[in-house]
Amino acid sequence: QVAVITVDGPSGSGKGTICQLLARELGWHLLDSGALYRLTALAARHHGVELDDVEALEVLAAHLDVQFKAADSGHDIQIILEGEEVTHAIRNERVGEEASVIAALGPVREALLARQRDFACAPGLVADGRDMGTVVFPSAGLKIYLDASAEERAQRRYKQLISKEPGASLDDILNDIKARDARDMNRAIAPLKPASDAVRLDTTTMSIDAVLQAVLDEARH
Ligand code: CDP
Repeated sequence: QVAVITVDGPSGSGKGTICQLLARELGWHLLDSGALYRLTALAARHHGVELDDVEALEVLAAHLDVQFKAADSGHDIQIILEGEEVTHAIRNERVGEEASVIAALGPVREALLARQRDFACAPGLVADGRDMGTVVFPSAGLKIYLDASAEERAQRRYKQLISKEPGASLDDILNDIKARDARDMNRAIAPLKPASDAVRLDTTTMSIDAVLQAVLDEARH
């Protein structure tokens, strides 16, 4: 059985950054499960599929033609959807919003399950998401749940966004974060919650480095 560390938590909790650093530090593979939901949302737009057409979305998710390529320069990964580079396109706020809508659909989640489990290869996997510890890798050796206050998470997102979108409003971002939390936590299937055996970290006042060290300490236990 391949070693797996799961990292779950809400938007802006720092999962993405921590998982990248952790995977690099350990030399393990990385699963960005949110990207799969974002890719499904983007594929739906490209194919003119409505976000309430569950059957068509399930087919899209099951047959998603996607490649994750290690980029030549730096450590970033390039994402190719149906031959087109979408690395940056899937990060926009609207795609995130659409991803969270289709992520509430059971058949879409089912269709993405096997693809997520396929990422677990030697020497190990760091899995970033909402249900990594509860549904996708229930027997993972280490489960982490990262959280932070909604205000702090909105601040983090605002700082990321303001250079690209000078008109961004902190209030709007906070409202978006609260709406996304509500949708992710209240859905019937695979709601966002810590696994019963997860180590919970509140990162509100922690630096990225402090969080990384805390997770590495747990991993070396
Ligand atoms: O970066 P951010 O936290 O905003 O989003 P993400 O991790 O890329 O995920 C986008 C959306 O996909 C989330 O709001 C969830 O609704 C959904 N998702 C999920 O349901 N399960 C996962 N394992 C990962 C993401």
